[in-house]
Amino acid sequence: MCGIIGIVGKEQVADRLVDGLRRMEYRGYDSAGVCTVEGGQLIRRRAEGKLNNLVIELARNPAPGLIGIAHTRWATHGAPTTSNAHPHATGEVALVHNGIIENFKPLREALIARGRKFESETDTEVVAHLVSEQVEAGLSPQDAVKAVLPTLRGAFALAIAFRTHDDMLIGARLGSPLVVGYGEGETYLGSDALALAPLTQKITYLEEGDWVVITRDGAQIFDAANNPVTRAIVASGATAAAIEKGNYRHFMQKEIFEQPVVVAQTLRSYLRRVDQSVALPQIDFDLSTINRVTIVACGTSYYAGMVAKYWFEQFARLPVDIDVASEFRYRDPVLEPGGLALFISQSGETADTLAALRHCKAAGQTIAVVVNVPTSSMAREADLLLPTHAGPEIGVASTKAFTCQLAVLAALAAHLAVKRGQVSREEEAAIVNHLVETPAALNAALSHDEEIAAMAHLIAPARDVLYLGRGPDYPLALEGALKLKEISYIHAEGYASGEMKHGPIALIDEAVPVIVLAPSGPLFEKTVSNMQEVRARGGKVVLISDAEGIAEAGEGCLATIEMPKVHPLIAPLVYAVPVQLLAYHVAVAKGTDVDQPRNLAKSVTVE
Ligand code: F6R
Repeated sequence: MCGIIGIVGKEQVADRLVDGLRRMEYRGYDSAGVCTVEGGQLIRRRAEGKLNNLVIELARNPAPGLIGIAHTRWATHGAPTTSNAHPHATGEVALVHNGIIENFKPLREALIARGRKFESETDTEVVAHLVSEQVEAGLSPQDAVKAVLPTLRGAFALAIAFRTHDDMLIGARLGSPLVVGYGEGETYLGSDALALAPLTQKITYLEEGDWVVITRDGAQIFDAANNPVTRAIVASGATAAAIEKGNYRHFMQKEIFEQPVVVAQTLRSYLRRVDQSVALPQIDFDLSTINRVTIVACGTSYYAGMVAKYWFEQFARLPVDIDVASEFRYRDPVLEPGGLALFISQSGETADTLAALRHCKAAGQTIAVVVNVPTSSMAREADLLLPTHAGPEIGVASTKAFTCQLAVLAALAAHLAVKRGQVSREEEAAIVNHLVETPAALNAALSHDEEIAAMAHLIAPARDVLYLGRGPDYPLALEGALKLKEISYIHAEGYASGEMKHGPIALIDEAVPVIVLAPSGPLFEKTVSNMQEVRARGGKVVLISDAEGIAEAGEGCLATIEMPKVHPLIAPLVYAVPVQLLAYHVAVAKGTDVDQPRNLAKSVTVE
C-alpha cells in the first residue's frame, strides 16, 4: 500500500516520477503527489484521486528539477484529500512514506507543544517535522535523519528531499520494502523493482533498519546501528512489458488468461517429469519429522491455505490449524515443537502475515513460505522458500497468484505425503500426472469466457449473491464471493453447502442468485440436495460442474457453466477460473473500476 519513488537525476524528473507512480498505482490510488528541488525551493504538486489528476495538475503547474520524490497513496490516517496527500513538507524538508508511524500521536502532540503547525491528519507529517526540526537546528540531513529514525515506531519506507540539497535524497526502511536503483549518473529509490524497471535493472534491496544516502554518484548505505554497510547489487529482472496490459482490457483479465502458462511455469519447478516425483527446493531439515502444520495468511491467500488443509490432512495425514493472520497472533496460539508454520502471500509483505511469521519464528517453528515476490520480506525470512512463478500481479483482485499458490500447495501436500509414508511411489507418480494436466484443464475452463460474459447480466442487478461448495470447493465458494464483492461491490457470501440449512437459507428468494460449485464425485449428491433446498424456496441457481454433473442436476437452473472433468486434486485450480471470470464480467457489466476497486490496495503493509 502506497508506492514511493525518488530520483537524483541528470535530466528533468517530474515526468519520470509520474511514470514510476503509474507502475505502482496498484499499491494505492487515493491520491498522488511529487516534490522536486530546484533553485533552493521545494516544488510540491499534489492531487486527490487517480494519478491522472496529478498529471493534469502538473500540466497546469509544472514541477521543474533534476531531483525529486513522489507518492501514490492508500489512505490509512486521514481521508484521501489533497492536504493529506504526500509528499508532506515543511519549509526545509519534503518526504514520502509507505507504512504507518504507530507512535505518531505522542510525537505530534510534542511537536505541537513545541510550536509546529500541522496541515494534514496523517501520521507521516510528524516525520517531516521531526527531520525539519533537526535541520533547522543546524544538523546535516544525514545527522538529522540519524537522530529521528530511532524515535519512530511502526513500519516505514521513506524518501526524503531537502530544500538546500539538489544533489541528494535520503531513504530509510523498517518493515516496508525499499530498493535502491543505479543508473548512468543517476540514482533512484523505489518501493519495488517494477517502479524502476524502465530506469534501471541494477538494484539493491535494503535490509530491515537500513538507511541510505543517494547522490548522482551512487548510494551509501547504513544499517540500523549507523554502520556503513555494503549490500549486494543484483539484476532486478523486472521488465516494463510484464506490467502492461497488452491486448487485454484490464490487468485482471490478462492475469486470468495467463493462468495456464504461469501455473505450468510454477509446476515445472516442483515436478520432476523424468521420475514423476515431486521435488522441493534443497532444505537442511527433514520434513518427515513435522508433526503439525499451522497455516496463516490473509484474503485470497488464506483461501488457498484452506484448500491446502484438505490436501495435507487427506494425503499426508498431517493435522493442520489455519488462521487469518490478523487473528492468529493475538489469540496466543499453542505452537508445539516440531511444527511447520506455513505462510502464504502473493506480495510477501502483508503486515499481518509477516508479523505472524515472526511470532512463529520466535516460538521455534520451522517457517515455510509460499510467496510470489521472491525478494520480499517473507521470502527472506523463510527456512523453506516455496516460490510461485505467477509473475507480477497488478490487478488488485488476486487471480493467477491464487492458482499458482494452489499448484505449489498441492506439490507440497504430495511431498509431505511421500515423506510420511502415506503414499507410495506409484501414487506419487499418479499425483504428478494429474498436476501435469492442470494447464490444459485451465485452458478448457477459460474457453467458457464468452458464455460467462453473456450471463453476467443475470448476476449484475443482484444485491446479494451466495456461493456454495463442499470440501475443497468450500474455500472456492468463499473466494468466489470475495472476488465478486471486491470488484463489483455486490454483497456476496460463501458457505459450505451443508451449512445453508443452519441459517443462511433464510436469505433465499428469487432475487438472490446462488452459485453452486460442484464437480461430480462422491460429494456431488449431497451438494445437489442442498441445491434443491435452495430451488424449493425460489432460489435461482447457477451450477458450475462438469458434463456429468450438469446432466444430472442442471435442469431448471438459471444457468450452468461446464468445466472439464478433472481429478479432485486439481478441481480447485480449475473451478477458480469460472468464479474469477464471473466476478470479472459482472464488474465490467456494472462499469466498476476492475483493476483499481474502491478502498482497496494490492499490498496491505499495515496491521
Ligand atoms: C483479494 C486479495 C486480497 C489478498 C490479501 C493478501 O483478491 O487480493 O485478499 O489476497 O490482501 O495479500 P497477500 O497474498 O499479498 O499476502
